[in-house]
Amino acid sequence: MTLHQPIVLQAGLRGDYASANDGFVVTQNHAAIPEADHATWRTLYARQSALLPRHAARAYRESLARLDVAGGISDFNAISDTLRARTGWSLIGVPGLIPDGAFFDHLAARRFPVTVWIRRPEELDYVVEPDVFHDFFGHVPLLGEPVFAGFLEQYGRLGAHAARIGALKPLARLYWHMVEFGLIREQGAIRAYGAGILSSAKETVHATESAVPRRLRFDPARVLRSEYEIDRLQPTYFVIEDYAALFACAARLPDLLAAARDATPISPGAADPTDINA
Ligand SMILES: [Fe+2]
Repeated sequence: MTLHQPIVLQAGLRGDYASANDGFVVTQNHAAIPEADHATWRTLYARQSALLPRHAARAYRESLARLDVAGGISDFNAISDTLRARTGWSLIGVPGLIPDGAFFDHLAARRFPVTVWIRRPEELDYVVEPDVFHDFFGHVPLLGEPVFAGFLEQYGRLGAHAARIGALKPLARLYWHMVEFGLIREQGAIRAYGAGILSSAKETVHATESAVPRRLRFDPARVLRSEYEIDRLQPTYFVIEDYAALFACAARLPDLLAAARDATPISPGAADPTDINA
């Protein structure tokens, strides 16, 4: 699993932060990407894309197909042109995880931060920090889904408010459960749209088909109280019926965040009396 989660920058991150600007943006320099890195991408792409027809949400699959990225790491500028025409989003290169404030600002302006480097061949199954495979393969396709794309902008816009009222933790839980690990019901089947799921072979099958995890009906108040652990398969997933459910909850978030800040958190995998199975 390789996931974005809002962080305070710490020492030892892999990326080249020295060359980043004030918004933590770096140049991708696509022409200089080594062939070995493109080969790593192709290996990961082939493995993950084979799982998509059975496990991935339709909007994700259709949008990925439009991007045509099987051959190697994409040129962010070219992909941005395609996305901009469709939903107004663009991609920016970043050295890796970036601080909350910069992250929220980019999302609010419909700029999605994508790490410029890729994992090493010995890290195909697990890399500690999010790399270009996670950020791009996991997140970028759904930026082409207009309603989800609108939700993500609204999410970014709420960052400053959440910081002001001391509710960054609940806001991060929403991103974790619904952007990284979200599931959707499509014609009776449970499909994955979350980036943390779709960039991990193991989690893709676990989230959608395993009998082990709990799958609950999406309830924003519940999600905002739900703690998570980053280094294991998720014990609980939340299932939406459509992306409009996410967009609709954004308008209620100022109130929901304040309530969640003052509520008792729910431990990872724990049950709550309000739970309804999906
Ligand atoms: Fe992520």
